[in-house]
This record gives sequence, C-alpha cells and structure tokens, in this order.
Amino acid sequence: MKYRSQKVAYLFFALSMALLVLQIIYGFIMGFAHMGYDVLHEIIPFNAATATHKNLLVVWLLSGFMGAAYYIIPEEAEIELFSVKLAKLQFWSLALVGVASVIGFHFNWWEGRKFLEIPRPLDYLVVINVLLFLGIILKTLYSGKKRTTTAMVMVMGLVFAALLYLPGMIWFDNQTIDSFFRWWVVHLWVEGVWELIMGGILSFLLIKLTGVDREVIEKWLYVIVGLTFLSGILGTGHHFYFIGTPKYWLMIGGIFSALEPLAFLGMALFAISMYKKGEKRHPNKIAITWTLGTAIVSFVGAGLLGLAHTLPSVNIWTHGTFVTAMHGHLAFWGAYGMLIFAFISYVMPQLTGRKLYNTNLSTYAFWLSNIGMVGMTTALGAAGITQVYLERKVGMDFMDAQIAMEPHFMILIACATLFFTGVIMFIVNFLKYGTPTDQALVKN
Ligand code: HEM
Ligand code: HEM
Ligand SMILES: [Fe+2]
Repeated sequence: MKYRSQKVAYLFFALSMALLVLQIIYGFIMGFAHMGYDVLHEIIPFNAATATHKNLLVVWLLSGFMGAAYYIIPEEAEIELFSVKLAKLQFWSLALVGVASVIGFHFNWWEGRKFLEIPRPLDYLVVINVLLFLGIILKTLYSGKKRTTTAMVMVMGLVFAALLYLPGMIWFDNQTIDSFFRWWVVHLWVEGVWELIMGGILSFLLIKLTGVDREVIEKWLYVIVGLTFLSGILGTGHHFYFIGTPKYWLMIGGIFSALEPLAFLGMALFAISMYKKGEKRHPNKIAITWTLGTAIVSFVGAGLLGLAHTLPSVNIWTHGTFVTAMHGHLAFWGAYGMLIFAFISYVMPQLTGRKLYNTNLSTYAFWLSNIGMVGMTTALGAAGITQVYLERKVGMDFMDAQIAMEPHFMILIACATLFFTGVIMFIVNFLKYGTPTDQALVKN
C-alpha cells in the first residue's frame, strides 16, 4: 500500500466476511426448511430467515465495496484519505445498522419488501451512513492530485447507488406503484450502477495485476458503462411484466433486458484480453484467478442465466419460482461476491506485507466455493423446472409441489456444504494475514 490511511479498508473486509458467514448460516436454515426439516421455525420463522439472508447479502457486499473504495480512491487520487477517524465512525455505524436490522427481523420489525425489508427508522440511519461515506470519498478524490477514469467510474457508481436508495423510501399505498419503485432500487442497483462499481474495481485490479497500460484498460471501461446504461435502464421492464403496470413493458422489458448480457460479456472479454495482453504479471496468481473468475462467472450467472428467463413468454411460467433463485445465486456470487474475494485476495498482501497467496488453502478456497456454487445453482434450477411443471403446468397445489421438490434441496445442502467449506478456507487465509501494518507501506 502507498498511503497509511488505506489500512482502514481492512475493517470493512473483516465485517464483510463475518456477515457472509452469518448469511450462509441462514441459507442453511432455509435449505433445511425446504427439505422438510424446519426445526427452528418457532425461533426463526421462514420470513425472518429469508429477510436476514438477503439483507445480510446486501450489507456484506456494500461493506466490501466501501472497503474497496477506501483502498482504491487514495491510491488513484494520490493523497491520504480525508479522515480515518470519520471512516471508522462510518464503519461502526454501518455495523450497527447491520446488527440492528438482523435483530429486528427476529422480532418482526421489518417491512416485507423483498431485499429492502429494513424498517423505515433504520433507513434514515443508512442514509446518514452513506452520506458520511460519500463525503469522505468525494473530499479525498477532489483534494487529490488525479481523478482517473477508474476512480471516477467507481465513484459515479457509488453516488448513483446512494441516490437510487431513495425511491425505495417513498411511501405508497398502492402495491403496484410500491413494487414499481422498489425495482428502481433493486434492479437498477445490480443491473445498473453496481456494474459501474464492478467495472471500476475490475479496472483497478487489472491495472495492478496484468501490467497493461492504464489507457488501454480504461478505454474498455467506457464501452462497459455505455452497454450497461443502454440495456440496464429500460431492462428494468423485465420486473414489470406481471405486476399491474401497462402492457408496453412486455415489449420494452423483453427487448432491452435481452441486451443486458452484452455488458457482462464485455466485462468477461475485457478481463480475459487484458490478462492475455499483460506481460508484467503480478506474482499474486490467486488474485488474478478470482478476477478472471468474477468476469466469467458473472457473465454465466447474470448474463446467460438471466437471459434464460427474461423473455415474457418464458417469464410468465418461471416468475417467482426457484428458476429465479437459481439465477439470483450465481449472478450475485459471480458478479459481486467473487469481485470482493478478488479484491481481498489482492489487497491483503498489500496491507500486511505478507505473501500468503498461491497457498494450497487459497487455491482450494477458490475451487471448492465455485464448484459448490455451480452445484447449488444446478440444484435450484432443477427444483425450479420441477416447480414450473408441477405447479403451473399440471396445476398441483403449491405446498404439494414444495414437497415434491424436497430431494433437490438435499442436493442443494450437499453443494452448499462444499461452497461453505471453500468460503471458510478463504476466511482462514484472510485471518492468517493478520491486521494491516505500517511496515507494509511502499514508497514510489
Ligand atoms: C449481477 C447482475 C444480476 C444480479 C445480481 C441479479 C439478481 C437477481 C435476483 C436476486 C433476482 C430476484 C429478484 C426478486 O424476485 O426479488 C433477479 C430476477 C430477475 N433477473 Fe436478475 N440479476 C442480475 C442480472 C440479470 C440480467 C443481466 C438479466 C437478463 C438478461 C436478469 C434477468 C432477471 C429476470 C428476468 C428476473 C425476474 C425473475 C422473476 O420473474 O421471478 N438478471 N435477478
Ligand atoms: C451456501 C449456502 C446457501 C444456501 C443453503 C442458500 C439457500 C437459499 C434458499 C433456500 C433461498 C430461497 C429462499 C426462499 O425460498 O425464499 C435463498 C435465497 C437467496 N439467496 Fe441463498 N443460499 C446460500 C448462500 C447464498 C449466497 C452466498 C448468496 C449470494 C452470493 C445467496 C443469495 C441469495 C439470493 C439473492 C436469494 C433470493 C433469491 C430469489 O429472489 O429467488 N445465497 N438462498
Ligand atoms: Fe432485473
């Protein structure tokens, strides 16, 4: 690392990993419930488990993005972070919101709007927290010597992500209108502005890891930003097909969302071609593996598995089934989970001066987690197709179809165990690095 203040990023990565473990535990609780073993029902009802699983996902990813920003922005802008004290305050308030929401869900303190379940008073805390975060980042960027394309794209993504949280906070009595604006947050995050954050982080990693000139790498970023906006904004329509909005959304959503995989394809081609072009490759091979991995798996999970059910003629059958969950898992993991794992793999040697990359532990972490996640995706896909057939074609009762799907959840649990083993190995490696130290500072 080049700046002492970059060390603060570590806190965010540690929180991110802790919340991921908790998220996975809730995943197992639901997996067992779907297998017919809902033994914890009295203490943790399904609605509390599912809200916790999904909101923890959002918080560990945000914590990872924030950590990445606190590391990247000083380095790109060539200046110390504006205030480490404020960054630590922001960290603790983020952890507080996370913990308060999880506890709240267990006492029925939630809103019931998928992915945005956290209750209104906590939303205000989120707003204050994010404003503080953006204040620190923007002040650093604009006091620095440089404003690189990489930094600007990443910060643009973060600012838009914050602004897009607001439509989800307006109160509507009408279910359709509420749902309409909820998608502005959820869809325009993952298929819009988070892709800019992803592009920025990928570009930073590729500059560091492949040795290819910044000018070449950053040219690609413009293409990715262009493709993302072109397809992703009106692509929101694929959530409006059957929620009570006008019919024209079938056409608009179908056409534009079918174009969305192009942005992810662009990201994959970008990473692979920069890797092949790179002549001064960094010795941290596992960071390169995770970086290429995120570019490729996101194309499969988000791009291809998204495309699989995005046309109205397909979605009318698959909507809200486990086909959706199949895509949701590989998309989130490939695009954003693996991205954070890539960043942590790159950054830990920089923060601590220790070189624990290319160990057996880190290699097995990559393969077990990914093979496990592909298995989980397959199990969910099989459950989803069974569900569509039994429930929607044959007309079987909802609960009877759930029972028929139980064997698929046995497979899900087996694969999830593999996935979890890989994640734990990654975290053990992360902990082995220890905490950041000033001795890891390099001057140049
Ligand atoms: C990284 C990017 C992406 C992530 C993280 C992601 C994640 C998700 C999640 C979690 C859902 C379930 C939402 C809910 O029901 O509350 C969903 C739904 C959906 N996604 Fe994606 N997605 C991504 C990209 C894409 C792309 C590129 C496409 C199209 C090509 C797509 C097509 C769809 C469709 C059609 C649905 C609605 C499914 C339904 O009707 O139940 N997604 N996505
Ligand atoms: C490894 C253990 C995991 C297990 C056993 C598991 C299991 C589940 C189950 C059973 C559901 C469906 C809940 C329902 O019926 O409402 C679910 C939902 C979901 N999980 Fe996981 N999960 C795990 C890990 C993860 C990870 C690592 C991610 C993200 C990177 C993730 C993202 C999601 C998302 C986005 C949904 C909502 C899907 C939808 O909208 O249909 N899960 N999970
Ligand atoms: Fe979407």
